[in-house]
Amino acid sequence: MRRWLCFIVVFLSMPVASSQSVELLHWWTSSGEEAAFSVVTDVFEGLPETLESEPIVGGGGAPAKAILQAKAIAGTPPDIAQMEGPSIKSWAALGFLHELDEPSEYYHWDSTIYTEIQSIHKYKGAYVAIPINIHRLNWMWTNNEVLASNNIPLPTDWDSLVSALKALKKSGIQPLAMGDEPWQIVQMFENIAYGVGGADYYRRAFVNLDPTALNSTETLESLRRFREIANIVGSHLPKLTWNQATDALLEGEYAFQLTGDWALGEMIHQHGGLPEFIECTPFPSTDKGYIYNIDSLAFFKTSGNKTMDVSAVATALSSPDFLLEFSRKKGSIPALNNVSVDGLNRCQQQSFKDFNQARKAGRAIPSFIDSMAVNPTIQNAVSKELHRYFLDSSISSSVFISHLNAINIERVR
Ligand code: BGC
Repeated sequence: MRRWLCFIVVFLSMPVASSQSVELLHWWTSSGEEAAFSVVTDVFEGLPETLESEPIVGGGGAPAKAILQAKAIAGTPPDIAQMEGPSIKSWAALGFLHELDEPSEYYHWDSTIYTEIQSIHKYKGAYVAIPINIHRLNWMWTNNEVLASNNIPLPTDWDSLVSALKALKKSGIQPLAMGDEPWQIVQMFENIAYGVGGADYYRRAFVNLDPTALNSTETLESLRRFREIANIVGSHLPKLTWNQATDALLEGEYAFQLTGDWALGEMIHQHGGLPEFIECTPFPSTDKGYIYNIDSLAFFKTSGNKTMDVSAVATALSSPDFLLEFSRKKGSIPALNNVSVDGLNRCQQQSFKDFNQARKAGRAIPSFIDSMAVNPTIQNAVSKELHRYFLDSSISSSVFISHLNAINIERVR
């Protein structure tokens, strides 16, 4: 009996042969996004590490980014985190990120990652994050059945879009699937501003924050149009997350949604593919172009006795097969130029074609609102002003512009 007891005690105190768990913090929490995330989970099936998903709810990732910061300050960053744009360099400059030499050499990133998006993934000459996919923001999603049953043609420019929204409202149909979250609202401004001033104005105003462009007639006209939409949809927007808005568009409760192609991922998942009755057209603009953001994964240097094989995990999460499968479900296009999109749906193929045309014409522009163009402090400050302007019709365009100028002065101080 005693011998048995000893055996049990020794057995229980033996180290358990467990695999290393890898925490991945991200904001892919809608059902379509979860479906795309399952492709990440599949990659880990072939690795010795065990994936521990840490999803943080919140479209556009503001809460996830705040939690990432808090965890890093507390000395407990996740092993891997979803990131966007210039913040990648900031995290690398603070010494948090692993360099990803192995995947970058193995997959020839210097020639396979689109040139526009290479530098945001590099710090001091080394790649420090994997670009997973390219999302387009300047889309207009239309439920054709809703338009057809109200005898409204598909809008092709700003004026016809406004007429369609007004006509639908008059017939008691909710025109625009949009919730009250600031991120959803201000995305529309970005599309409007691009539509008014084109790539050159957009780049000067919202990438370089050039005071002359910010104080221009294009900004005034963009604000006028933004207010025009506010007057149509009203300031009491429903409590809808972006994906609930997409679901409602699919159900025919709304006619349009103006958001990025994460909505397409949601449609693919909910409908088992892109529905025939959904039309994807670029948001009306005088200048054909493409506003993009990139989902990237960065690997944190974590303390303790973790032994994750960073190079092996990063290489597995950079393979063209993985990138294609992820985008197939996410509604995006792969971030590498050597991955064929032939098997993707019509909207993704159009996205690919438009992205490449826009690149050639110098009209592929990083999203200001979705953290691709400027640092998060400026982005948040401008987003807050835009949100306030949309909801409060007593704020004049000159007051709004004076606030933008004040933010800009703070920036260069
Ligand atoms: C991300 C997408 C995500 C969307 C909605 C964007 O910032 O790039 O991957 O689906 O936010 O949360």
